[in-house]
Amino acid sequence: MYKIAVLVSGSGSDLQSIIDAIDCGDLNCSIEAVISDKEGVYALERAQAKNIKTYAFNRKEYKDTISEEILKLLEGKVDLIVLAGFLSILKGELLKKFKHRIINIHPSLIPAFCGAGMYGLKVHEKAIEYGVKFSGCTVHFVDEGTDTGAIILQKVVPVLEKDTAKDLQARVLKEEHKALPEAVKLLAEGKIKIEDRKVTIVK
Ligand code: GAR
Repeated sequence: MYKIAVLVSGSGSDLQSIIDAIDCGDLNCSIEAVISDKEGVYALERAQAKNIKTYAFNRKEYKDTISEEILKLLEGKVDLIVLAGFLSILKGELLKKFKHRIINIHPSLIPAFCGAGMYGLKVHEKAIEYGVKFSGCTVHFVDEGTDTGAIILQKVVPVLEKDTAKDLQARVLKEEHKALPEAVKLLAEGKIKIEDRKVTIVK
């Protein structure tokens, strides 16, 4: 069975999309751990409700050592690490040992509105401010940069004239909840091929 860990920092609706895909039989994998960089977030409750093991490494306490702690916990235990609204930056050995085995979901069409400090509602505020007509979400591999890894898949939504950042966030989030389980499924089924930055889906 393909094993994953999901890293979270907030409400965990992206985590829920993976749980739901597993529950309805669309996705054949098991969530071995849900790890948060903050205590008391709702994502941990969602995991506990499904009897998934949870861990919290408070970002303020662990600071730069959070990647080491995660590596200690997950090395040899999971096939894939999924960042589902996880806001700490991963680095060091963890990235080397899990090369092409860590993915992230970002709420814009990378390379637009991404990089350091771009997360959550801020991304949608910037998209509306810029005046783009389309936005969306991106699932990508995690490398040493911020939001710079090879792109696995993207989903597009229109930006409507009267949209607030919250309206756009809600529309994008709906697509995130399709994109993330879809990407995990492709990886679990060994259907992803990577050459340099180019990701192709093997039929
Ligand atoms: C999602 O919109 C995700 O794309 C975003 O945080 C939200 C988490 O929502 N991630 C980033 O902005 C990363 N740069 P959730 O806690 O309900 O899953």
